[in-house]
Amino acid sequence: MPDYDYDVLVIGAGPGGYVAAIRAAQLGLKTACVETRETLGGTCLNVGCIPSKALLHGSELFEEAAGGTLAKFGVKTGKVEIDVATLQGEKAAAVKELTGGIEFLFKKNKIDWLKGRAKFRDAHAVDVAGKIHSAKNIIIATGSSVMPLPGVEVDNDKGVIVDSTGALALSGVPKSMVVIGGGVIGLELGSVWRRLGANVTVVEFLDQLLPGMDGDVRKEAAKLFKKQGMELKLSTKVTAASVRGKTATLTLEPAAGGETETLKADCVLVAIGRRPNVDGLGLDAIGLELNQRGQIETDHDFRTKVDGVWAIGDVIPGPMLAHKAEDEGIAVAENIAGQIGIVNHAVIPSVVYTHPEMAGVGLTEEAAKEAGREVKVGKFPMMANSRAKTNRETDGFVKIISDAKSDRVLGVWAIASVAGTMIAQAAQAMEFGALSEDIAYTCHAHPTHSEAIKEAAMAVRGKPIHM
Ligand code: FAD
Ligand code: NAI
Repeated sequence: MPDYDYDVLVIGAGPGGYVAAIRAAQLGLKTACVETRETLGGTCLNVGCIPSKALLHGSELFEEAAGGTLAKFGVKTGKVEIDVATLQGEKAAAVKELTGGIEFLFKKNKIDWLKGRAKFRDAHAVDVAGKIHSAKNIIIATGSSVMPLPGVEVDNDKGVIVDSTGALALSGVPKSMVVIGGGVIGLELGSVWRRLGANVTVVEFLDQLLPGMDGDVRKEAAKLFKKQGMELKLSTKVTAASVRGKTATLTLEPAAGGETETLKADCVLVAIGRRPNVDGLGLDAIGLELNQRGQIETDHDFRTKVDGVWAIGDVIPGPMLAHKAEDEGIAVAENIAGQIGIVNHAVIPSVVYTHPEMAGVGLTEEAAKEAGREVKVGKFPMMANSRAKTNRETDGFVKIISDAKSDRVLGVWAIASVAGTMIAQAAQAMEFGALSEDIAYTCHAHPTHSEAIKEAAMAVRGKPIHM
């Protein structure tokens, strides 16, 4: 039996990697985690989930004060201004506290943080900053990076054409912003800067926003973002960009081809997706090949084709979400420790943290039908939910898709101010194999937004109470 430095060595300290490292250490395995960033927490804590939510929250407060929602409830504020430096400072403080928290957890669990970039030497050894570290098991959790758009060069320092990292760090509110890509990042960060005063145009290649979400959510989302003042250019692609001084000029073309037009903006956010981080990892040295999308394939236990090498998170197939990476982190560590670690990829919620929030779990109605399922659908509008009505946040609905024969819930989709919180209940119900009837007969506290889930479940049988 060779003598390794570690039982487990994790490459990457994002939500996948740091969680895997902590669980491995909790299970008594000698663990190290390699991270090239200055701070732990990966994309999510440093330039993703956390900083974006800080800006979303701050900009929501600003819009409530400046846009009159507070005044509607008698809260008088006087002249409202935004101090972007203070907002950015608060964001940085949250990031620092949370990334520092992971460092504390590493120390508490006696995990060695190996600082630097890891490169495979063989299946049981990596080179980090010129030193070789060996491990019986190596977990690749290197995450993903921004997908570049040919012809549109990002320069976050200049701040004219930026990616998500640049859009999270703007020092002032641009007068106009064009977002390329009507997906999650484009809509969340587009919402931030629109609320703070930018004129935002979203250019989306497809004929609808938010690919992957239920069709009704996508249609309603387009209406809501337009109502909020975003301009949407659907079925349109950007073919070129140039920057002169502080202004970008984009060339736009219909997705199906045709006449081009130009569009000028103070800031352009490129948000057309992310791609797995595998460059420079030395996968050749261990003979690990990538699939057509540049991802590392694994089996259900997160084993790659190379013995002793495992992979999780954004670098493997599946939705690029922090909670999916975290759950895989727990499961892979448990599998390495000889336990049974499972992730149910059919029940992974997704949330768009705009206002209102958009959330879903399980199958969309379209996917269920495509899979040949006969479905029953129940829908309930937030307009008829007493809490939403009282709070004056009536946009949205809950939609439940259940199997027509068994009544088993196949998917739940929601647009509501707190849809991200509401969807947890749906995920748990689906994890337990709930029927829509189970949800309909579960007592929900009144008055809560979540009652809309119960009513949507009642609507599957055509009998909601408040509609
Ligand atoms: P990552 O978080 O990308 O971490 C991988 C780490 O590995 C990185 O720190 C990287 O530096 C390191 N690394 C890479 N290669 C090496 C190497 N060779 N050696 C050493 N270290 C290496 N998801 C959500 O669920 N909710 C959200 O609200 C959300 N918001 C987001 C907002 C933005 C703007 C972005 C960009 C993403 C957001 N995401 C969100 C997605 C989420 O951040 C990712 O799904 C998640 O971080 C993936 O985790 P991971 O551990 O696989 O990889
Ligand atoms: P995305 O995949 O969500 O959206 C990209 C959009 O760009 C798609 O609608 C696509 O059709 C469009 N597009 C692609 N090429 C285009 C082109 N040339 N011109 C115009 N449009 C084009 O990717 P996004 O928004 O970059 O986010 C990346 C990942 O980060 C997502 O997979 C998401 O899961 C994750 N994320 C999650 C968040 C959350 O959970 N709230 C928040 C932010 C990111």
